Amino acid sequence: MKIAFAGIISAALLILSGCTVTNSSDSCFFPAPQTSVQTTVTTAQTEPPISPTASESTTTSTVTSAETTTVSTSESVLTETTASAVSEETAETDKDADAYNADLSEATEEWMLLLVNPEHPIEEYEPPELMTLSNGVQIDARIYPPLQEMYDAMFAAGYAPFTREGFRTYGDQQEIMETRIARHIAEGYSQEAAKIQAEKYVAIPGKSEHQTGLAVDINASDGNSWALYGWLSQHAYEYGFILRYPQGAEGITGYQYEPWHYRYVGKAAAAEITAKSITLEEYLS
Ligand code: DAL
Ligand code: ZN
Repeated sequence: MKIAFAGIISAALLILSGCTVTNSSDSCFFPAPQTSVQTTVTTAQTEPPISPTASESTTTSTVTSAETTTVSTSESVLTETTASAVSEETAETDKDADAYNADLSEATEEWMLLLVNPEHPIEEYEPPELMTLSNGVQIDARIYPPLQEMYDAMFAAGYAPFTREGFRTYGDQQEIMETRIARHIAEGYSQEAAKIQAEKYVAIPGKSEHQTGLAVDINASDGNSWALYGWLSQHAYEYGFILRYPQGAEGITGYQYEPWHYRYVGKAAAAEITAKSITLEEYLS
């Protein structure tokens, strides 16, 4: 596990260096003081840590069966609703079932593998359906079931994860970038150097994967984020997520190592990307 090993080495280096890989939201994470967000998630072992709000749990979506069959409790509401929505749509369009499923599966593959990086901007994209998690963070509703499943596994393994960041608008990203640049200027960088430094960690607005709603930043609320990153590097692929910005791949992804940033790509792609220790860019090339 090249990525996992590199992750451990990098984690040690970052800790020794005072963890300089930070920004306002994609943080080299030493957990902040307890907040309502963390409380929500910490107490979530008795309730889903990232449960949808009541109104959202009754919405329909284009989530497909492959990604929704293994979830339980609150998620089953979403799954059942989705299944009936799909079958109703099939009946309405009077389309051949096989052709319908083929179309759906092709479309599904496409959204899962959406590539966003400095060379592939997304501009002002809006996910088809957003879901608001219990701590207020939003994600593309289609990744909720696998994300919840992964959270269940993390809690079962003794970790205390929470979703620090999910979907961002273009404006959110712009604000994060401006804050980051201002910070570097305050540190003594020139305007130009501050921008260059900021862009190593923060995507230019219109070019952030967070704008897809398919990426999440996961931290621990109990001070054990690095241990959690270790678990994620080994198990996230089982739920369809990949470490999007691995150590040593900066020249390909365009960004520094971010052990907290996971991207949903579906189980098949995640398994191959992780087994080969490659990036999404390499997988799609
Ligand atoms: N930190 C990642 C690259 C972002 O800003 O989207
Ligand atoms: Zn991120």
